[in-house]
Amino acid sequence: MTQTFTSKDNIPDHQEFLQDVIAGLSAPQKTLPYKYFYDEKGSQLFDQICELEEYYLTRTEQHILQERGAEMGEWIGPHALLFEPGAGSSVKVETLFPHLHTPAAYVPVDISREHLLASTERLQKRFPHIPIVPVVADYSSPFSTPSLEQTPNRIVVFYPGSTIGNFPPEEAVSFLKRLSNFVGPGGGLLIGFDVKKDKARLEAAYNDKKGVTAAFHMNLLERINRELRANIELTQFAHHAPFNEDKSRIEMHLVSRCPQKVSIAGRTFSFEEGETIFTECSYKHTPEKLAAIAEKAGFVRDVFWTDQEELFGVMALSIPNE
Ligand code: TRP
Repeated sequence: MTQTFTSKDNIPDHQEFLQDVIAGLSAPQKTLPYKYFYDEKGSQLFDQICELEEYYLTRTEQHILQERGAEMGEWIGPHALLFEPGAGSSVKVETLFPHLHTPAAYVPVDISREHLLASTERLQKRFPHIPIVPVVADYSSPFSTPSLEQTPNRIVVFYPGSTIGNFPPEEAVSFLKRLSNFVGPGGGLLIGFDVKKDKARLEAAYNDKKGVTAAFHMNLLERINRELRANIELTQFAHHAPFNEDKSRIEMHLVSRCPQKVSIAGRTFSFEEGETIFTECSYKHTPEKLAAIAEKAGFVRDVFWTDQEELFGVMALSIPNE
């Protein structure tokens, strides 16, 4: 059994959170970065979102991984290094593990040290023959692979979920370019994405009846209150997530219900009634559009897997060998 733990710290701190909040709320269209959704409470609420009837994404992707995992394992091939940015608790990759052919290593990268180490321990127990090398890092900073005992045949990035949809198309191209440089010729990308579909179904997924999504979204304001000496009156904001057909994206806003002022670490920010904080976009792509984005980053489409209703997609792409 090979087990190498090389962890490196690179976590945004309190000061950075404060600066990001101040910068975001000072812009004409107020914004807040979505990376701050996932504190402990936010991560728990997101897990609850994934269980919702309306939020078909996680469940459908899991189903695809289960049904087509063997084919994915074939496509990944022997002695691959599987690299997962934002791995969280690594539940999705676990479905692929039994189908990997003598993997060189699995490298989960996540910002939450506790989450990452706990899941590594759990996974390593279940799969003692797979070398797991966790890296604690914010994956928006440069990628690096830890030193391994075995030289891998190829690097494959596993990027499940629908996170690619959270990047505007041009930014998705730059992010995928970083991935293509990282994996190099012969490398691969196995990526999940929410497939474009009718507005009603999409809006239901982001506006559930029980209000879990609203609670998740509002937690960002609660977190600012908790961590940044702020006095935001939570009942005076509302969750709003319409689908913009033109841009093919769900737009997440926190709407001010009245004219108000909030104080954050000694600074005051004013809101008009109906003014919004724009927090996140979730682009919904057709498989063709996703492939076109990845092709701009140097990838070539290999395989597309989907469910019967074509709700969700998992695409395999490669960088051609030189
Ligand atoms: N990245 C997820 C998505 O686009 C996150 C998410 C789900 C989300 N529901 C939300 C983000 C509501 C903000 C508000 O599906």
